[in-house]
Amino acid sequence: METYKIAVLPGDGIGPEVIDAAVKVLKAAEEKSKTYKLNLVWGEAGFNCIAKYGTNVPPQTIDMLKTTAACLKGPMTTPEEAGAPPSAALAIRKLFNLYANVRPCFSLPNVPSLKPNIDLIIVRENTEGMYSNIEFELEEGLAVAMRVISRKASERVARFAFKLADRRKRHLSYAHKANILRRTDGVFNQAVLDVAKEFPAVRVDDFHIDAMAMELIKSPGNFDVVVTTNLFGDIISDEAAELVGGLGVAAGANIGENYAMFEPVHGSAPKLSGQNKVDPIAAIFAGKMLLDYLGEKDSALIVERAVSQVLKEGKVLTYDLGGKAKTSDLAEEIVGKIGNVKRNPN
Ligand code: IPM
Ligand code: MN
Repeated sequence: METYKIAVLPGDGIGPEVIDAAVKVLKAAEEKSKTYKLNLVWGEAGFNCIAKYGTNVPPQTIDMLKTTAACLKGPMTTPEEAGAPPSAALAIRKLFNLYANVRPCFSLPNVPSLKPNIDLIIVRENTEGMYSNIEFELEEGLAVAMRVISRKASERVARFAFKLADRRKRHLSYAHKANILRRTDGVFNQAVLDVAKEFPAVRVDDFHIDAMAMELIKSPGNFDVVVTTNLFGDIISDEAAELVGGLGVAAGANIGENYAMFEPVHGSAPKLSGQNKVDPIAAIFAGKMLLDYLGEKDSALIVERAVSQVLKEGKVLTYDLGGKAKTSDLAEEIVGKIGNVKRNPN
């Protein structure tokens, strides 16, 4: 039987609560399937590590991650003062070269969606752009940040997005601001257009990022796969999440050649932590994407269906979905449904 060693980093704030829910669901899916094993190993990372180890991703955690096939990561608070360690998510993305940040946004049963049947995926370049972490204060009151865009990183994320588009509706939209950022987005756009030649069956639409931000609200049905640079993708993925029910239900995958990390898109919400009230669905969907990545497609589908069923029934919902249920109640309800969902989708 296949055994997957998976790192679990609960993070801080509401992280431990939602990751606990996701782990319960993963265990239920494993139990239901009986065809593979998950060997889960826990590690420390996030805000609380800074005082303890002087960094938010301590070396022993990095060593541990390297022994695993993939990682389920909870939200972690990022300090904002200059000189503080960079965000833990970013550190892991860069360390393992997780170049494609994949964020699906789809309408869910009984969850308010701006338009019906939204189903799109944002693929965000994840290693460079405005996240290059190269910033200078030239003099008091004058600072610059470097927006690094390379042909190599643009091409590999474009190819990833085209492959995804090829498996879906064969429609890819790319977003940029080349009217202003002529050189950097010039490189990005050229890479997208060159990769497009390898996928002649995929229809390609070109958008300025501001126009796309508007179109996402106006006609979300016009999008299937969207590819863009790092910061633009960060912004429109929050926007797109809100179209289909908000950050409580939005998950993302960070994919590289040899490793992947899965996380809820939402932050650590320290004010809400310890109350057992936040929506665990984003973290549960992160777990579902992890199963997909491992190739356990049936299990992934079972998790998705269990979540859909619970939402459809509308009896056990957290406050963001209009209910009064606790985080753990919703997790238990989903776990219960996994026990009952039919194994073979056919
Ligand atoms: C995200 C988050 C991170 C980002 C933060 C926490 C650094 O907003 O995953 O979208 O900006 O990438
Ligand atoms: Mn973000």
